[in-house]
Amino acid sequence: MTRQYAELHRPQFHFTAAKNWLNDPNGLVFCDGVWHLFFQHNAQATVWGEMTWGHAISRDLLHWQQLEHALYPDAMGTMFSGSAVVDHDNTAGFGPGTLLAFYTAAGSQVSPAKPFTQCLAYSTDGGYQWTKFHDNPVVDWIEDDNRDPKVIWHAASKQWVMALYLADDRYALLVSTNAQRWRQIQEVVLANDTECPDFFPLPDESGVERWILWSASGRYLVGSFDGRKFEPLTPLQVSESGFNGYAAQTWSNAPDGRCVQISWMAGGLYPEMPFNQQLSIPVELKLKGTGASAVLTRQPVAELNALRGKALVHTNRRISPGKPFTADTKARLFDVSFTVSTGSSKALYVMVRGQTLAFDWAEANLNLVNGRPHKLGLAEQSVRLPTKPGCAAQLSCRLIVDLTSIEVFINDGEVSASFCYLPDAHTDPLVLYGSGDAQTLEHLALFELRSIFEQ
Ligand code: FRU
Repeated sequence: MTRQYAELHRPQFHFTAAKNWLNDPNGLVFCDGVWHLFFQHNAQATVWGEMTWGHAISRDLLHWQQLEHALYPDAMGTMFSGSAVVDHDNTAGFGPGTLLAFYTAAGSQVSPAKPFTQCLAYSTDGGYQWTKFHDNPVVDWIEDDNRDPKVIWHAASKQWVMALYLADDRYALLVSTNAQRWRQIQEVVLANDTECPDFFPLPDESGVERWILWSASGRYLVGSFDGRKFEPLTPLQVSESGFNGYAAQTWSNAPDGRCVQISWMAGGLYPEMPFNQQLSIPVELKLKGTGASAVLTRQPVAELNALRGKALVHTNRRISPGKPFTADTKARLFDVSFTVSTGSSKALYVMVRGQTLAFDWAEANLNLVNGRPHKLGLAEQSVRLPTKPGCAAQLSCRLIVDLTSIEVFINDGEVSASFCYLPDAHTDPLVLYGSGDAQTLEHLALFELRSIFEQ
């Protein structure tokens, strides 16, 4: 039998459950030097079902230790997605510094039927043991399968704010001063989206605090929030694009003002593996620009650099049909950044372990050829490139490649996209070739990465 974590398709620096199914990241909270990661887990099978909160911890956002499951299904239902916070001011009365987790109890369709409600659990030992609140639910059923409470402290108005998914493409904001009694203050539409909201502040480039309302398929509004009303300043924009990024959540209580997010890479295939599904690499979010032109950027956390090994650099290579560029590496895990001047070429094909990422300059989009879109009917499937169709441009791109995933960050994270893949036939793990006129690979730097399971 293959050693655990050394299986053929086991991601080597992305989080996977030791065994069985996982989906959304839940309850992300930093406490006493530890990044807690809870996750939707079917502890019994490699398919979705019987939702339980799995639990893992890390000190560097890379090396994870899976612990005992934190929340098990009960008479109110299975444990759907939610969030966690540190109650520094003891608003809930369980003691200062208690961790509070908010989750959806997914009710029951069999008699006696029970609706979806929002519940509270708390931990007085820094996130290891959890007790469900004796008077759950803390938010009664509102409508349909309302779910996925994401809670944050709003310091200016001294209250907790909960973003909650209601139904269709409608979300609610609720507030509470004690984390137990909640009052709805607003309903917000995130057009054509569903599930897993996130709501968090970030300073814009002029230092003004803005609030981001985020939906499961990686789209967001930037606005202002005064504790009473969220006022969007921007239209709905796409942040995490690509076929597989879903249900992202940010850590609460993160140190040094950091805003760190992780997503489920929904829909990847892991044939014959004891586990199913993986999470993304954690990314750091920043707000670029100001006011109505504010956009989020996503960049892999700097901690990832600790896995870098052998490096190679190439400059000024012309790529033309029949003249591909082949990187001098046999690595299966790598972090590669390149800058390309497109000239009047049509497309650039970046072949990663036999799978093709197609940068279509003429159409200004990016696709994983033969990839399997998970976000059907939601966000745009192909990735919009920051170039104008048919125009010469210079574009910088970073790819983070693990055994079953490629994450793309363009122009310092202004565009980002997540893709799952399985390797196909190949000799060289990274080959770039073009279509149409020649283009120039101005600079390419590749770092081979070590596995987190290497001693
Ligand atoms: C999103 C989601 C959530 C729900 C959970 C159930 O992927 O459907 O809305 O809480 O997964 O596992």
